[in-house]
Amino acid sequence: MPQQPAKLNAFPVFVRVEGRTVVVVGGGEEALAKARLVGQSSALVKVVALDLEPELADWIAGHGAIHIEADYRAAFLADAVMVFAATGSEALDRRVCDDARAKGIPVNAVDRAELCDFYTPAIVNRAPVCVAIGTEGAAPVLAQAIRAKIDQLLSPSLGALASLAASLRETAERLLPKRLRRQFWQDFFGGAPAREMEVGHADEALAAAGELLKRRRARQGHVALVGAGPGAEDLITLRAQRHLMEADVIVHDALVPEAVIALGRRDAERLAVGKRKGCHTKSQPEINALLVSLAREGRRVVRLKSGDPLVFGRAGEEMQALRDAGISYEVVPGVTAAFAAAADLELPLTLRGVASSMVFTTGHDLRGETLPDWARLAIDGATVAVYMGRSIAAEVAARLIEAGLSPDTAVAVVENASRADKRLFHGTLNDLPSLEQRADLTGPVMTIIGDAVAGANFAKSEPLASHVAALAEAQGASA
Ligand SMILES: C[S@@+](CC[C@H](N)C(=O)[O-])C[C@H]1O[C@@H](n2cnc3c(N)ncnc32)[C@H](O)[C@@H]1O
Repeated sequence: MPQQPAKLNAFPVFVRVEGRTVVVVGGGEEALAKARLVGQSSALVKVVALDLEPELADWIAGHGAIHIEADYRAAFLADAVMVFAATGSEALDRRVCDDARAKGIPVNAVDRAELCDFYTPAIVNRAPVCVAIGTEGAAPVLAQAIRAKIDQLLSPSLGALASLAASLRETAERLLPKRLRRQFWQDFFGGAPAREMEVGHADEALAAAGELLKRRRARQGHVALVGAGPGAEDLITLRAQRHLMEADVIVHDALVPEAVIALGRRDAERLAVGKRKGCHTKSQPEINALLVSLAREGRRVVRLKSGDPLVFGRAGEEMQALRDAGISYEVVPGVTAAFAAAADLELPLTLRGVASSMVFTTGHDLRGETLPDWARLAIDGATVAVYMGRSIAAEVAARLIEAGLSPDTAVAVVENASRADKRLFHGTLNDLPSLEQRADLTGPVMTIIGDAVAGANFAKSEPLASHVAALAEAQGASA
């Protein structure tokens, strides 16, 4: 049987204090700590003490609080919604507690848990948003440590965002039927309004919220072209993950692994649209039309592409189709395969004094009569990352050597970069043609060429040519 969590002995609630009085009895350090805590709210703080420590006196003067300069009497509690006994004297604290309880006012006595009706939490304040952490008085230091962690997690702009939401709530309720509201608020707190507020652009956040409202009202969908990264699910961005969790439909390529797609909302529809080499389930124009029609149904579409969507992902055509159809879209970048492959090999893509530029290419433009620009850059020392280059490895090597690049130039190859089943290889331009003969490489392959490759760590990689040598040996033996 699953273990039940222990029962709470103190139940958390938020007490309305606006326009009401909170009384703190005491004039020392503890009273100051409680006054500061309550001072985060809009309550009127009254401090009852004949003598005040100077710091508390300053605090009262600076925060519009009231000092009742007198020995404590029960009458001072009359209009309080909450009372703190912080006199430092057990007998007096006990008296304050008895008086408050007799009047039906909840009371807290500093460091005397047995006298308390309520405990004060550690607070993360992003008014009107508040996170309160309680330990039933058992471990205030633990509460503070948790508070510090949560404080780091929550954006300082959260309060402003929540206030903006409050100001729009009535409008949203008037303009949107119930079933569209949830989507609107998800987009509001996770989308452009939140991002604008995060960087302090309150006007832009309001404008973005208006835009969202308009879109939801017109039941217009939205397409996010999202980079899924090279395959490891922890290499997708937080923004990509948020889009996946809010998607109605996920339209994904074959290269995106199931573990990444599984980060999407559980009830999101999933559509596989190809494409692996030689196996396209849908043509590019069909994919473009699909994105447009899904968005026209008012759905939030995530177009999930491997790596970065703008690197050899045909995103240009998809964006053009969406623009032509007047559909709103955005692009979420991802870690491209070249970066993942370089990381796997600890390979510096730029290397001081060796390579100061890099090229992303497919190599397929090497087939023409004239040498493409990037081949010249390679000769001048650029690091070249070749996408989809396995089937033309021999051609890439031959043309680069013919153009003047040394056959000894270092080459690295990574299959399934970033994934658990990755394989790393190293060699020279001379060895590169062997890649075409390797039937054992069934995953996506990234080739990196250039002098900077020599700076990689080859401790975990195999020589690229060893396979060819083994093949030749096997052939020799059978002859
Ligand atoms: C159509 S392109 C898409 C590139 C992708 N948009 C990107 O930014 O990585 C597909 C090619 O990317 C490379 N690729 C993608 N994922 C890879 C991986 N995990 N390991 C090695 N190469 C990869 C391969 O060269 C593959 O043929």
